[in-house]
Order: sequence, then structure tokens, then C-alpha cells
Amino acid sequence: MNLAIKECNRVKNLLENLQSFHKPSPGKKEPVDLHKILDEILLLTQKRLSQMEVKIIKHYALGLPQVPAVTDQIKQVILNLLQNAEEAMTAKGGEIIISTKERDDQVQLRIRDTGVGIHPEQMKKLLDPFFTTKSSIKGTGLGLSISCNIIHAHGGKITVTSGPGKGSEFTVSLPLKGT
Ligand SMILES: Nc1ncnc2c1ncn2[C@@H]1O[C@H](COP(=O)(O)OP(=O)(O)OP(=O)(O)O)[C@@H](O)[C@H]1O
Ligand SMILES: [Mg+2]
Repeated sequence: MNLAIKECNRVKNLLENLQSFHKPSPGKKEPVDLHKILDEILLLTQKRLSQMEVKIIKHYALGLPQVPAVTDQIKQVILNLLQNAEEAMTAKGGEIIISTKERDDQVQLRIRDTGVGIHPEQMKKLLDPFFTTKSSIKGTGLGLSISCNIIHAHGGKITVTSGPGKGSEFTVSLPLKGT
């Protein structure tokens, strides 16, 4: 029974991913409070993270301005980055550090994890659609390519710093002036 539900969810996620891969959800840009979105997503993942003994450390910038964005799309990006961070943990324990700041007419969101890290060879393929190192049950390899498309459509960018055994840091920069 449980397995059936899991499988249905997997197919549902796969279909949603494929759909948004071809056509990101339409939507209007509105002022978005990144901290609010982050906290909403963290609330949903809290239980699983505490079971894995993963510590969440938040460094939210005081008075961070709202950023013009399509809420659903930004949620999808953050959810994927947090999910990747979580899935990068090999054993119980570890930390996910989330920080935000305003810099040069941009808002930056950083998600750093103490997980396995990324090998330089894999780094080149990271954004390729369908590139995944996960089992077919866990990943389709679309998360980051969809996220990059979304952030580019907002006039922003995603950068990565990582190394094997060193954890990974993903930075999303979004312009404060709408595109
Ligand atoms: N934080 C991270 N730490 C280590 N490896 C990562 C991290 N984020 C991404 N990766 C690597 O990049 C690959 C691609 O990530 P992406 O989010 O695009 O796909 P996925 O997570 O494998 O599948 P999906 O997101 O479709 O469920 C991952 O399979 C993993 O190898
Ligand atoms: Mg992913």
C-alpha cells in the first residue's frame, strides 16, 4: 500500500518535472519575501531533516527587500536546492546553512551543505537535463536545469562552489529591479 502511494508520487513528480521542463508554470511577478518562502518549505521538510539529524542554520539578512519574482517558480528552485542538500548527506548528522543578503541591486540566497560534494568531472554536467547520480527512484536530473531556466528567466543566476568531501554551496542571485 505504502509502496503504491510512493510510486504514484514518484510518477506524479516526474510528470510535473517534465511539464515544467518544457514550459515553466506561467505566472506574474510579484514582490516575494524569500524568508517567508524558505520558512514555509523548511516547515514541510523539518520532520525528515530532524530524523536525519541534519541541523539547519539560518543567517537571514535583516530587512532583506522583497524581490520581484513568480512565487511558485522560486518555491520550486528553493525546494530543489534544499532537497539536493539533504540528499547529499551520506550519514546521519550534517548541516545545511541558509543565508541571504542584499548586494549591488541584487538579493543573494546561499544554500550550503556539508554533504558529499561534487567531483570536478560532474560539475561540468551539473546543469545538463537528465544528469543525475541518484537512483531512478530518487532523481530525474531535471531539478537544477529547471531551476537555472527559472532563475535566468528572472534575470538572475545560480553559481556553485563544491569539491569532493567538501560539501557544496549554491548561490542564487536575483535582481531587485524587475526584468
Ligand atoms: N548539494 C549537492 N551536493 C552534491 N551533489 C549535488 C548537489 N546538488 C546537486 N548535486 C548533483 O547534481 C546532480 C543533478 O542535480 P539535479 O537537482 O539537477 O537532479 P537530481 O537531484 O539528481 O534529480 P531531481 O532534482 O530531478 O530529483 C545530482 O544528481 C547530484 O549528483
Ligand atoms: Mg534535485
